[in-house]
Amino acid sequence: MTFQLIYSSVSSTPMQMDELEELLEHAQSSNPGHGITGALVYADGHFLQILEGERGAVLDLMDRIAKDLRHETIAVLQAGDVPRPAFAAWEMAYVSATPQQVAQWAGLTASVQLPEVWADIREDPARAAQLTQSILGVLVGEAGPGATPP
Ligand SMILES: Cc1cc2nc3c(=O)[nH]c(=O)nc-3n(C[C@H](O)[C@H](O)[C@H](O)COP(=O)(O)O)c2cc1C
Repeated sequence: MTFQLIYSSVSSTPMQMDELEELLEHAQSSNPGHGITGALVYADGHFLQILEGERGAVLDLMDRIAKDLRHETIAVLQAGDVPRPAFAAWEMAYVSATPQQVAQWAGLTASVQLPEVWADIREDPARAAQLTQSILGVLVGEAGPGATPP
Protein backbone atom coordinates (compact mmCIF):
# COMPACT_ATOMS: atom_id res chain seq x y z
CA MET A 1 0.00 0.00 0.00
CA THR A 2 1.06 3.54 -0.73
CA PHE A 3 -0.21 6.58 1.11
CA GLN A 4 -1.23 9.42 -1.19
CA LEU A 5 -1.96 12.97 -0.12
CA ILE A 6 -3.21 15.78 -2.32
CA TYR A 7 -3.19 19.37 -1.14
CA SER A 8 -3.72 22.79 -2.65
CA SER A 9 -2.13 26.08 -1.66
CA VAL A 10 -1.59 29.61 -2.89
CA SER A 11 1.90 30.97 -3.48
CA SER A 12 2.71 33.86 -1.14
CA THR A 13 4.06 35.85 -4.06
CA PRO A 14 3.84 34.97 -7.75
CA MET A 15 6.61 32.45 -8.40
CA GLN A 16 9.30 33.19 -10.95
CA MET A 17 10.64 30.30 -13.01
CA ASP A 18 13.98 30.32 -11.15
CA GLU A 19 12.19 30.11 -7.78
CA LEU A 20 10.11 27.18 -9.00
CA GLU A 21 13.25 25.49 -10.32
CA GLU A 22 15.00 25.91 -6.96
CA LEU A 23 11.99 24.45 -5.12
CA LEU A 24 11.82 21.50 -7.50
CA GLU A 25 15.55 20.82 -7.38
CA HIS A 26 15.32 20.60 -3.60
CA ALA A 27 12.28 18.32 -3.77
CA GLN A 28 13.82 16.07 -6.40
CA SER A 29 17.08 15.68 -4.49
CA SER A 30 15.43 15.15 -1.10
CA ASN A 31 12.39 12.99 -1.94
CA PRO A 32 14.17 9.78 -3.02
CA GLY A 33 15.82 9.55 0.41
CA HIS A 34 12.36 9.51 1.97
CA GLY A 35 10.79 7.19 -0.61
CA ILE A 36 8.54 9.99 -1.83
CA THR A 37 7.26 10.43 -5.38
CA GLY A 38 4.62 12.77 -6.74
CA ALA A 39 3.70 15.71 -8.89
CA LEU A 40 3.50 19.45 -8.43
CA VAL A 41 1.18 21.58 -10.53
CA TYR A 42 1.55 25.35 -10.63
CA ALA A 43 -1.33 27.29 -12.13
CA ASP A 44 -1.60 31.05 -11.91
CA GLY A 45 -0.32 31.35 -8.34
CA HIS A 46 -1.97 28.15 -7.12
CA PHE A 47 -0.20 24.93 -6.21
CA LEU A 48 -1.62 21.45 -6.29
CA GLN A 49 0.73 18.75 -5.08
CA ILE A 50 0.36 14.99 -4.94
CA LEU A 51 2.67 13.28 -2.45
CA GLU A 52 3.03 9.50 -2.36
CA GLY A 53 5.04 7.14 -0.23
CA GLU A 54 5.05 5.49 3.16
CA ARG A 55 2.40 7.10 5.36
CA GLY A 56 4.79 8.44 8.00
CA ALA A 57 7.17 9.83 5.37
CA VAL A 58 4.34 11.62 3.52
CA LEU A 59 2.90 13.11 6.71
CA ASP A 60 6.36 14.26 7.86
CA LEU A 61 6.97 15.95 4.53
CA MET A 62 3.52 17.54 4.61
CA ASP A 63 4.37 18.98 8.04
CA ARG A 64 7.54 20.54 6.63
CA ILE A 65 5.78 21.82 3.51
CA ALA A 66 2.97 23.33 5.58
CA LYS A 67 5.53 25.47 7.45
CA ASP A 68 7.03 26.81 4.22
CA LEU A 69 6.46 30.55 3.92
CA ARG A 70 6.51 30.42 0.13
CA HIS A 71 2.85 29.41 0.17
CA GLU A 72 -0.28 29.79 2.29
CA THR A 73 -3.95 28.70 2.43
CA ILE A 74 -2.79 25.09 2.51
CA ALA A 75 -5.70 22.66 2.32
CA VAL A 76 -5.46 18.87 2.29
CA LEU A 77 -7.98 17.73 -0.33
CA GLN A 78 -7.56 13.96 -0.14
CA ALA A 79 -5.37 11.59 1.85
CA GLY A 80 -5.48 7.83 2.00
CA ASP A 81 -4.10 4.52 0.84
CA VAL A 82 -3.88 3.73 -2.85
CA PRO A 83 -2.83 0.37 -4.31
CA ARG A 84 0.31 1.78 -5.94
CA PRO A 85 2.03 5.13 -6.49
CA ALA A 86 0.79 6.88 -9.65
CA PHE A 87 4.03 8.83 -10.05
CA ALA A 88 6.53 6.07 -9.24
CA ALA A 89 8.74 7.27 -12.11
CA TRP A 90 9.05 10.83 -10.76
CA GLU A 91 10.93 12.17 -7.72
CA MET A 92 8.62 15.16 -8.13
CA ALA A 93 7.12 15.77 -11.54
CA TYR A 94 6.37 19.35 -12.47
CA VAL A 95 3.46 20.52 -14.58
CA SER A 96 2.74 24.13 -15.42
CA ALA A 97 -0.91 24.67 -16.29
CA THR A 98 -3.61 27.25 -16.69
CA PRO A 99 -6.51 27.22 -14.20
CA GLN A 100 -8.77 26.26 -17.13
CA GLN A 101 -6.65 23.17 -17.86
CA VAL A 102 -6.71 22.11 -14.22
CA ALA A 103 -10.52 22.39 -14.14
CA GLN A 104 -10.76 20.27 -17.30
CA TRP A 105 -8.29 17.71 -15.98
CA ALA A 106 -10.59 17.28 -12.99
CA GLY A 107 -13.51 16.68 -15.37
CA LEU A 108 -15.07 20.12 -14.87
CA THR A 109 -15.76 22.85 -17.40
CA ALA A 110 -12.90 25.27 -18.06
CA SER A 111 -14.77 28.20 -16.51
CA VAL A 112 -14.83 26.66 -13.01
CA GLN A 113 -12.51 28.66 -10.74
CA LEU A 114 -9.71 26.85 -8.89
CA PRO A 115 -11.12 27.25 -5.34
CA GLU A 116 -14.26 25.51 -6.61
CA VAL A 117 -12.17 22.81 -8.32
CA TRP A 118 -10.36 22.17 -5.01
CA ALA A 119 -13.72 21.99 -3.17
CA ASP A 120 -14.99 19.43 -5.67
CA ILE A 121 -11.84 17.33 -5.31
CA ARG A 122 -12.14 17.45 -1.54
CA GLU A 123 -15.73 16.18 -1.71
CA ASP A 124 -15.21 13.52 -4.34
CA PRO A 125 -12.31 11.04 -4.33
CA ALA A 126 -13.30 9.99 -7.87
CA ARG A 127 -12.59 13.51 -9.08
CA ALA A 128 -9.22 13.45 -7.34
CA ALA A 129 -8.46 10.18 -9.11
CA GLN A 130 -9.50 11.70 -12.44
CA LEU A 131 -7.22 14.69 -11.91
CA THR A 132 -4.34 12.39 -10.97
CA GLN A 133 -4.86 10.33 -14.13
CA SER A 134 -5.03 13.48 -16.28
CA ILE A 135 -1.78 14.82 -14.81
CA LEU A 136 -0.18 11.45 -15.48
CA GLY A 137 -1.48 11.62 -19.05
CA VAL A 138 0.08 15.05 -19.51
CA LEU A 139 3.40 13.75 -18.19
CA VAL A 140 3.46 10.82 -20.56
CA GLY A 141 2.37 13.04 -23.44
CA GLU A 142 -1.21 11.98 -24.06
CA ALA A 143 -3.48 14.67 -25.43
CA GLY A 144 -6.28 15.25 -22.98
CA PRO A 145 -8.98 17.84 -22.37
CA GLY A 146 -7.59 21.32 -22.59
CA ALA A 147 -4.59 20.18 -24.66
CA THR A 148 -3.41 22.66 -27.24
CA PRO A 149 -3.09 21.14 -30.70
CA PRO A 150 0.44 21.40 -32.14
C1 LIG B 1 4.68 24.07 -3.05
C2 LIG B 1 5.85 23.45 -2.37
C3 LIG B 1 6.15 22.10 -2.60
C4 LIG B 1 7.24 21.50 -1.96
N1 LIG B 1 7.51 20.18 -2.20
C5 LIG B 1 8.54 19.58 -1.58
C6 LIG B 1 8.84 18.21 -1.81
O1 LIG B 1 8.18 17.51 -2.58
N2 LIG B 1 9.90 17.70 -1.13
C7 LIG B 1 10.68 18.42 -0.29
O2 LIG B 1 11.62 17.89 0.30
N3 LIG B 1 10.43 19.73 -0.08
C8 LIG B 1 9.39 20.32 -0.71
N4 LIG B 1 9.14 21.65 -0.48
C9 LIG B 1 10.06 22.38 0.39
C10 LIG B 1 9.68 22.22 1.85
O3 LIG B 1 8.59 23.06 2.14
C11 LIG B 1 10.86 22.62 2.75
O4 LIG B 1 11.39 23.85 2.32
C12 LIG B 1 11.95 21.60 2.71
O5 LIG B 1 11.46 20.32 2.88
C13 LIG B 1 12.94 21.92 3.83
O6 LIG B 1 13.99 21.04 3.67
P1 LIG B 1 15.21 21.03 4.71
O7 LIG B 1 14.58 20.71 6.02
O8 LIG B 1 16.07 19.96 4.13
O9 LIG B 1 15.81 22.40 4.60
C14 LIG B 1 8.04 22.26 -1.10
C15 LIG B 1 7.74 23.61 -0.87
C16 LIG B 1 6.66 24.20 -1.50
C17 LIG B 1 6.35 25.65 -1.25
